[in-house]
Amino acid sequence: MESEQKSAVDRKQDHILLAFDSATGIQTLDTRFEYDPVHAVHPKEGELWPAQMAGVSLNYPVWISSMTGGTARAATINQNLARLCGEYKLGMGLGSCRKIIDQPEFLPDFQVRKWLGDQALFANLGLAQIEQWILSGKVHLIGEIIKMTEANGLIIHLNPLQEFMQAEGDRFQNPPIDSIKKILDDFDFPLIVKEVGQGMGPKSMEALLNLPLEAIEFGAYGGTNFALLELMRDHPEKMERFKPLANVGHTAEEMVKMVNDYKSKHSVHCKNLIISGGVQHFLDAYYLMEISKMPSIFGMASAFLKYAMVSYESLQSFFEDQMKGLLLSKAILTIKS
Ligand SMILES: Cc1cc2nc3c(=O)[nH]c(=O)nc-3n(C[C@H](O)[C@H](O)[C@H](O)COP(=O)(O)O)c2cc1C
Repeated sequence: MESEQKSAVDRKQDHILLAFDSATGIQTLDTRFEYDPVHAVHPKEGELWPAQMAGVSLNYPVWISSMTGGTARAATINQNLARLCGEYKLGMGLGSCRKIIDQPEFLPDFQVRKWLGDQALFANLGLAQIEQWILSGKVHLIGEIIKMTEANGLIIHLNPLQEFMQAEGDRFQNPPIDSIKKILDDFDFPLIVKEVGQGMGPKSMEALLNLPLEAIEFGAYGGTNFALLELMRDHPEKMERFKPLANVGHTAEEMVKMVNDYKSKHSVHCKNLIISGGVQHFLDAYYLMEISKMPSIFGMASAFLKYAMVSYESLQSFFEDQMKGLLLSKAILTIKS
């Protein structure tokens, strides 16, 4: 009782000390939302936000965007990410699985099914690799990768700028849409197509929306930027010369609006969106999912990586707070029309 009184006194003291520092002014107002506290209640402990991907139920609309594999730290990072997916029932994309064929000793980095349980897991390959395998009659390797990783399906990443900026990068010889259609014809596992940090414009999105894809993952502009990242790995003069190209692309908000616009006038064959690229926290995610007229979940890469590199516990604490924020946002905020 005495300590309760003391903590109330401390709190009142803190309020006086911090009141001036906490004044925001009006410039920081987030104008995307209407805040209506009159009818709302707090989310209940343990409340979920069910979603689905590839016929698998998710407890929250969260996708761990494709990242790593084939480096010294990858096994631990992937294990932490996969454990999170298994424990909280999320979906996950693996990082590029090309290494499994080139250097099979790295296969264990990608074998995360044991931590994921039945959750949605997608293998990942770059368009350039797929094109090469199509041209050399080795497309069956894709099926082998799906088997070896026990994945539900495949993500194809489209990264022409990254390939170009990368010193050892590949070149696309045919329009990517042709390779994507060929994979859809040859295999019956679910397919996701994504960018890696520049997003995609309306003509690309329209073409993809017309395909029977499980999802389009944005990999939008505004977060990790692989064109810039590859330039950072190269000689400084390359950075100076090509940097303007790293700044082209489309933000996640722009992409949601282009999909909405298209969907309002046409039928769409793609089933879902994974809104990702520059989504740093739950509030952006909530906003983007709410304005989307397609079934949508959100994906994050670097935000999860930051904690997955440290420990499972830090990743878990970050994730739990993100979900608390997401559910609170859902309870008290609506989108300003
Ligand atoms: C360390 C790292 C490795 C990545 N590797 C891949 C990859 O192998 N395949 C892929 O499709 N995307 C890859 N990405 C891109 C992410 O999936 C995502 O599209 C991009 O980082 C934008 O999301 P973010 O802003 O939340 O980081 C990688 C991202 C990071 C941070």
